[in-house]
Amino acid sequence: MPFVGGFRLVSLTVATCVTLAVASFAEADQKADDEAYERPYTICGPNQVDRGTYNGYRRYHAYCHVCHGPDGLGSSYAPNLVESLKVMKRDDFSQVVAGGRQNIQAGKESVMPAFYEVADVMNYLEDIYSYLKARSDGKLGRGRPERCPS
Ligand code: HEC
Repeated sequence: MPFVGGFRLVSLTVATCVTLAVASFAEADQKADDEAYERPYTICGPNQVDRGTYNGYRRYHAYCHVCHGPDGLGSSYAPNLVESLKVMKRDDFSQVVAGGRQNIQAGKESVMPAFYEVADVMNYLEDIYSYLKARSDGKLGRGRPERCPS
């Protein structure tokens, strides 16, 4: 029965194509999700950011800038976060901010405090990340941003 065999072959091929198409759609979806997770900010004009990112700017300058410098650019004490976020993933960022980190080497003590008990930071970690990521991606300049018109 060559006809039946041929039909089977065709339907198998069709099924395989459908499966592959669905798989690549799912992959594209996953990629878009990952992208949105790593770049949660919205830029809607020169120096204009969404409400969360703007809030992140304010929180950063209230809690982080004493050590990490204005606009995330680092100081002699703490690293430049605009550079750090070029390689650091969002989950690692959250972990360091919540848990802190210490580096005691050759008499030089470098301490990143743990913020897990500071609600004003922990509740807005995504906003702080968005602000620093927008800076790090080169999408947002120095200084106070404006808010997107709502
Ligand atoms: C008291 C000073 C101080 C404050 C305040 C501070 N940090 Fe830090 N932070 C440091 C130091 C010092 C390091 C480097 C620690 C090390 O050498 O491992 C660091 C490291 C980091 C890192 C890791 C960078 C990398 O390249 O690995 C991140 C992310 C970070 N800080 C984010 C923040 C955020 C966000 C805030 C505000 C909520 C903040 N820090 C507030 C001192 C500070």
